[in-house]
Amino acid sequence: TVVDQPHRTRFHFQPQKNWMNDPNGLMYYKGYYHLFYQYNPTAPTWGNIVWGHAVSTDLLRWHYLEPAMKGDHWYDERGVWSGSATLLEDGSPVLLYTGESVNMTQVQNMAIPANKSDPLLLHWLKVPHNPVLVAPPGYNASEFRDPTTAWQGSDGMWRLLVGANTGIRGIVGTALLFKSKDFYKWQFANRPLHSVAGTGMWECPDFYPVLTEGMNGLEVSSENGGSPVKHVLKISSDDLKHDYYSVGVYNSETDTYEPAIHRLDTGIGLRYDYGKFYASKSFFDPSTNRRILLGWSNESDSIQDDITKGWSSIQAIPRKVWLDSVSRTDLLQWPVEEVESLRQNRLVKENIVLPPGSTYHLSEVMGSQLDIELLFLKPNLTQEPIPPELLAQNVACSTSGASVRGIYGPFGISVLATPNLEEHTAVFFSFVHSRRTGWKTIVCSDQSRSSLDNDIDMTSYGSFVRVYDNEDLLSLRILVDHSVVETFAQGGRTVITSRVYPQRAVNDFATIHLFNNSTRLHVVSQSVTVWNMESVQLSSFTTATET
Ligand code: FRU
Repeated sequence: TVVDQPHRTRFHFQPQKNWMNDPNGLMYYKGYYHLFYQYNPTAPTWGNIVWGHAVSTDLLRWHYLEPAMKGDHWYDERGVWSGSATLLEDGSPVLLYTGESVNMTQVQNMAIPANKSDPLLLHWLKVPHNPVLVAPPGYNASEFRDPTTAWQGSDGMWRLLVGANTGIRGIVGTALLFKSKDFYKWQFANRPLHSVAGTGMWECPDFYPVLTEGMNGLEVSSENGGSPVKHVLKISSDDLKHDYYSVGVYNSETDTYEPAIHRLDTGIGLRYDYGKFYASKSFFDPSTNRRILLGWSNESDSIQDDITKGWSSIQAIPRKVWLDSVSRTDLLQWPVEEVESLRQNRLVKENIVLPPGSTYHLSEVMGSQLDIELLFLKPNLTQEPIPPELLAQNVACSTSGASVRGIYGPFGISVLATPNLEEHTAVFFSFVHSRRTGWKTIVCSDQSRSSLDNDIDMTSYGSFVRVYDNEDLLSLRILVDHSVVETFAQGGRTVITSRVYPQRAVNDFATIHLFNNSTRLHVVSQSVTVWNMESVQLSSFTTATET
């Protein structure tokens, strides 16, 4: 119940119990979204990994199915690790995944549906010629995993990537390229598609085309009839523990990938999310022409807490992802529109004036399942000359949180808050200035006061968010679901996922406040709109069809 499990989410995907990590094998097939995931059926800690399986028609109301694959062959006996789904030309799905084999080497295996006409794809057959890929000579077989969705080049050959670490002495995060004529026999291309020194073993690579205009997604093999596409290469750095991507140009004739901006190369450049979001994977949804992204959001509480709760980890809310056609250098992300179907009891407040050092309690709002849209008028930052010593003032999310007053911030919103703010998670903006770059806007998610429980990692997260000179508003969309706070700033230019564990600001005891802790800025919230979010019933498929 909500009382026993105040931190269990109510509209995010999580298994009924036990441990989950990476999303795997995402696809849309015969009317269902399929989500497979790294799952330990026996404990709320990592181990005994199988592929958990769930389906939905809206990316929210998932039905639990039996695990799709368990380790039952020499080549996956120690775990059925991460991998991807590919839809062949005739529409039939194939899974490629990493097996942690009996001798602890990592090999890539293939599975096909036992019955292609079953929309639930309940049963999978591991093909007799597994493993289909082993580490090429000279490569470390214990750092060789997580095959991507395969794509076809203009020559009709299939290609896929496998994450690796090719450093002999150092660490060189690498995406190795393999090719096949028939999807049956795979050959190493004798080189990586891409690698970046110093970025750690590359786990869970993801490689996909994006349109340079518009918000639609593309199927992975699409070259869009020669009209401009760019390619995204995402990797999960095992050392840096974050997902990084770059936007670049892929040439399927030469099989080369060049990041458009070298400074923003994979592994050092752009991040999907500045909080807890790892081992993400995207897929193309042909029913709505979207590319959808899921990512694993792990816990910030202790292992002992996970054992007490009986579960660990959630999947972040599914996001639509597309290239920002203004910047053309990075991606935009937004919760899939299905999320809006959970909205209830809309409350709108307009023109809330927040003088320096003030808070405003939205006492009408109680609840820990919320969707919030908040618009601030962009404060005028150049009204008066600013003394040079103050210009140097810097705000870093992790060192000065929501309660540290500065001239140019922080101002924002506290969610999962008690009425007296004894507990709260603060999402805020602030500004920094330097002669070289001018004004920059920062967005932070500050967890430092999120819980009275001390045994929790309450690190704050944040980054810059792009705001153009001709924009008059600063915007935040925030999804709150008991132990997760997901922030999409400025239309999805910067995203932050935080995990929090309030002790008092739980269920209907949680409220929200606006605040302006800047010493000088006059802040006006043009509007704040808040919805309570319905709980989705996650159920096993049979119960769902019976009721
Ligand atoms: C990423 C990862 C993958 C691996 C899987 C094992 O979180 O380490 O590289 O395949 O998890 O569960």
